[in-house]
Amino acid sequence: MARGRDTVPGMSISTALDRLADAGRLDGVIRPVRGAVNKLMRPQAVKDALHGVWLGHPVHPPLAQVPLGAWMSAGLLDALPGNRKQATLLIATGLAAAVPTAAAGAADWSESEIGQQRVGAVHAVMNTAAVALYVGSLIARARGDHRLGRRLAYGGLGLASSSAGIGGHLAYSQGAGVSHATTAARTLSHDWIDLGPLTDLPEGKPVLRVSQDSDRPASLCVVRRGAEAHVLVDACSHLSGPLHQGDLTEVGGDECLVCPWHGGTFALKDGRAVRGPAVAAVTVLRTRVSDGRLQARVPERHLG
Ligand code: FES
Repeated sequence: MARGRDTVPGMSISTALDRLADAGRLDGVIRPVRGAVNKLMRPQAVKDALHGVWLGHPVHPPLAQVPLGAWMSAGLLDALPGNRKQATLLIATGLAAAVPTAAAGAADWSESEIGQQRVGAVHAVMNTAAVALYVGSLIARARGDHRLGRRLAYGGLGLASSSAGIGGHLAYSQGAGVSHATTAARTLSHDWIDLGPLTDLPEGKPVLRVSQDSDRPASLCVVRRGAEAHVLVDACSHLSGPLHQGDLTEVGGDECLVCPWHGGTFALKDGRAVRGPAVAAVTVLRTRVSDGRLQARVPERHLG
């Protein structure tokens, strides 16, 4: 007997989340919320700070440790007698930390791909419900109803922990927050890659060079400057945007390349992100000119 798509027995949580990412049922809500987040998070420097451009790493995951850790500790203390004050303090600490954590998460979510936005919306709703339960727990404790306060807190802990699992799926399965430039760099040949005569490259204009001279074809973004050239993997660290289609600009005295998809900006000399939503550096290859031909090689850290 044919089974319905949504009634597969034993469907894993991961599969269910992937189906959610493929379904457009939430899109009517997501669009206006995303627009509101983008309006609220201005100027760009605020959003960049929340993305973690200053850190070279998304700040949402480490921030999320604080509320979850505080609430887990409160849950342990609540299970033991004589710890009401300490548990209440930890719950309040978690609530205070939830504010910047949510802001950083919202900034990343607003610049993510549609599947990540759909799953991220569920993650956000569950976290919001957890926060509401913890606020209720604090109110109950303030009124002297510690039994209700404990119950609400355990409900909040269950929701926040489950939501953290969804956050893990977003990162590890859907690739939210990971460097797509690193993934692209891993596919490159470990040998010197020939990119043709240096003089064939236009001056000061990003171009695509595709090398087929090994069993690992390479797509690289090349910017020639006189007798030298910058060579980068042609995949933005944010969501793999084609960097060779980007424009050059100057930020803080450094020549930079702007990703054509969402405006992530990278210093050409070392690949570091200087504007979000990208936070991780884009991989810059070592270069040499041999017999007038430009050659590039992936950095040591990617050699297997
Ligand atoms: S793909 Fe989003 S900034 Fe490049």
